[in-house]
Amino acid sequence: MQASLKSIFERYVTVNNIFKNKKAITTSYKPESLPHREKEINTIATILAPSLRGERSSNIFIYGKPGTGKTAVISYVARKLEESSKNGNVKVIYVNCKMRKIADTEYRLIAHLARELGEEVPVTGLPTEQVYNIFFKAVDEKERIIILILDEIDVLFEKIGDDFLYNLVRINENLKNAQISIVGISNNLSFLSSIDPRVKSSLSEEELIFKPYNAAELQNILRDRCKIVFNDGVISDGVVEKCAALAAQEHGDARRALDLLRVAAEIAERMNSDKVEEIHVDMAEAKIDRDRILETIEMQPRQSQAVLWSIIKLNGNEVYTGDVYDVYKKICVDVGLKPLTQRRVSDLISELDLLGIINAKVISKGRYGRTRKVSLSLDNGLLEKIKEIMTTKYYFQ
Ligand SMILES: Nc1ncnc2c1ncn2[C@@H]1O[C@H](COP(=O)(O)OP(=O)(O)OP(=O)(O)O)[C@@H](O)[C@H]1O
Ligand SMILES: [Mg+2]
Repeated sequence: MQASLKSIFERYVTVNNIFKNKKAITTSYKPESLPHREKEINTIATILAPSLRGERSSNIFIYGKPGTGKTAVISYVARKLEESSKNGNVKVIYVNCKMRKIADTEYRLIAHLARELGEEVPVTGLPTEQVYNIFFKAVDEKERIIILILDEIDVLFEKIGDDFLYNLVRINENLKNAQISIVGISNNLSFLSSIDPRVKSSLSEEELIFKPYNAAELQNILRDRCKIVFNDGVISDGVVEKCAALAAQEHGDARRALDLLRVAAEIAERMNSDKVEEIHVDMAEAKIDRDRILETIEMQPRQSQAVLWSIIKLNGNEVYTGDVYDVYKKICVDVGLKPLTQRRVSDLISELDLLGIINAKVISKGRYGRTRKVSLSLDNGLLEKIKEIMTTKYYFQ
């Protein structure tokens, strides 16, 4: 083996200086301790506790900004509830409605729920009505309380509307043995005002709001996690404070704070440092932002990518919307897209502006109306990376 490669590998085989338990800072880790959520945990536990006596508990609607601990809290309480339930008279079903193949059609969702209850349902082919019947029978098979957690319920509503929810909140009327309680979770409050008012009032028999964490709370969450994840003394002073402050500036997002800490530690490890320093947090912040922008660009529809490519082709100089449109039309010919109207392209420019990928300033041209001056808001390194992806992966020329 090449000597340099050997030394790279050896560094990882020898005792890991920084991480004690790296898994405990990944997204799949389920913390056993959730500082600053004791009140929420107790409230939810109190609402759900009657289910242990076979009584249906109220439906709960939980709302809070991303990273405020909604999923972590509900899965913690659900775990404990199932552990306390003797002879399995409480059954918890957790569905993350963002998951494709599980919740993107009514059929798939009900089939998934029926499968969770031990039924076999083909992937396609049956009339939805029949899948409903299979599900209904499975639910009512024995005396029990089913707690159905619909995480990211707003996404479910966007995908399949509220018919399913309407059927679900009324299902108890027709059950003889079992009862269902629903826990709906969302980080989008406007969702509640768009659903059928009857479904809304039923879903939110109990309502709980998770407030964003402040910087001090985020520090406690991080310190608590540091004890499990890192070896003693590897986190320098100021690191936890910095991660917490940066995450608090956004919207008190614990995911962001933990991501910053994890990426900073990975960078420190890669740089062969035996401590995580504030500088690593700065680097982590830049890396996360870049990754986020790249991901956003990759998720854009092709038309929007074509508009961005036009702006890139104009070398990122400040240009007018009309100039972008001229280049865009040529690019459409090159890559075989049907050009949109200038009006639509103008809308796509606004969207790219909102995503923070470009800047679009409105300029008044007096009685000639208004136009916009467009420029890129990306640093050079990132721009090169984007060019590479756009040409090799999406075949822009
Ligand atoms: N109080 C806490 N203590 C320890 N870890 C926490 C706490 N709150 C959140 N976390 C961690 O922060 C991350 C984000 O939390 P979680 O996934 O529960 O957020 P969420 O409110 O469900 O966000 P979203 O709306 O985006 O789904 C998870 O890794 C979770 O373990
Ligand atoms: Mg969540």
